Amino acid sequence: MIKIGILGVGTVGTSVAKILEDNADIIEARAGKKIVVKSGVVKNLSKDRGVSIIITDNPLDVVDDPEIDIVVELMGGVDEPYELVKKALQNGKAVVTANKALLAYHRYELQTIAGDIPLMYEASTAGGIPIIGALRTGLSANHIDSIQGIMNGTCNYMLTKMINEGAKYDEILKESQELGYAEADPTFDVGGFDASHKLLILASIAYGIDAKPEDILIDGIENINQTDVEFAKEFGYEIKHLGIAKKVGDAVELRVHATMIPVESMIAKVDGVMNAVTVIGDRVGETMYYGAGAGGDATASAVIADIVDIVRGNQGPMLGYKKGLESGLTLLDKSEITTQYYLRLQVDDKSGVLATISSKLGEFDISIEAMLQKPTKEKNISQLLFTTHICKENKMQEAIKALEELESVYGDIAMIRIEK
Ligand code: HSE
Repeated sequence: MIKIGILGVGTVGTSVAKILEDNADIIEARAGKKIVVKSGVVKNLSKDRGVSIIITDNPLDVVDDPEIDIVVELMGGVDEPYELVKKALQNGKAVVTANKALLAYHRYELQTIAGDIPLMYEASTAGGIPIIGALRTGLSANHIDSIQGIMNGTCNYMLTKMINEGAKYDEILKESQELGYAEADPTFDVGGFDASHKLLILASIAYGIDAKPEDILIDGIENINQTDVEFAKEFGYEIKHLGIAKKVGDAVELRVHATMIPVESMIAKVDGVMNAVTVIGDRVGETMYYGAGAGGDATASAVIADIVDIVRGNQGPMLGYKKGLESGLTLLDKSEITTQYYLRLQVDDKSGVLATISSKLGEFDISIEAMLQKPTKEKNISQLLFTTHICKENKMQEAIKALEELESVYGDIAMIRIEK
């Protein structure tokens, strides 16, 4: 019999315990051994978790328990889980974690500490979708050209409701929290940080890139409003929050942001809490993975898949490389990224303003692709919405600053990147 200890018996931890009980027969048949949860750690002992396991508030009761074979880490955060996972590995216990923030910062150290002890993390990225397994194993014959996907269920749920139902941002964020999709601190979701953690994990498996969140371009969905949604509809785009990894020559660009994508693309049709990731390999071509990206049972399904794999004896190196990778690939500096942009500005509705704006953009080598002018409730103030041809990220950032300094431009300029 294999005994599990769970650090963090919240929504996902409870689902793990319940699924291991409810589906015990099929799980035992697949793993070859009975798997039971012995104990779990919580912060608040007075709250009933509805599961029949030993509950403690001391993580060392699990990590140092000689009877526990596999520690499942579902606490969230970085520093405390890092110390506990390290200790569990040093105690010779296999570890399964769903903690993407932990891996975004410490995956390479943890890989070294783990050595031959299994440390698995399928649930860390895209919830129930087996994208880690696909990249680590299924696509191991390929050089990966690109990865692009919806990696945060909360953002996708919110954008879907805003676009399809005109829902208000604050109300829909609250709903995502009630449904158990959002992180304890939802700014991790809407600010793009959660998706950036997942993208970094995928980039390590695909390219061997060792980067931290602060090294890559991260934007969220906080500034999107109904005007952007209407513009997108009018011009044939859907707005999605995407994680993008792309090989560009000898470099890899990594970025996470709200993106206008053609409405007919497959990812544009992925709605609600669902995630979808497309991976292009040099031999296999395009592959796509789709499923629930958040929620107790979907995430627990991935946690248990890792447990079953460990019990079966499937180990292998954590990030998928048995020896050092000398691909020569480096992280492309975020200022060097090139793409198309959509801009929204509030301007004086008078002659010469449009010419001033397009000439200012010209100073930064930015040319306009399409333009729309909309009246506002305020007399003599208009909204200008336009898309640009491909230009460099640093030029766009400089141009936005310069435009915001113009007397005829009011307030901050909103920007959404476009991928075709
Ligand atoms: N808050 C995350 C999301 C949970 O919304 O995708 C799954 O990682």
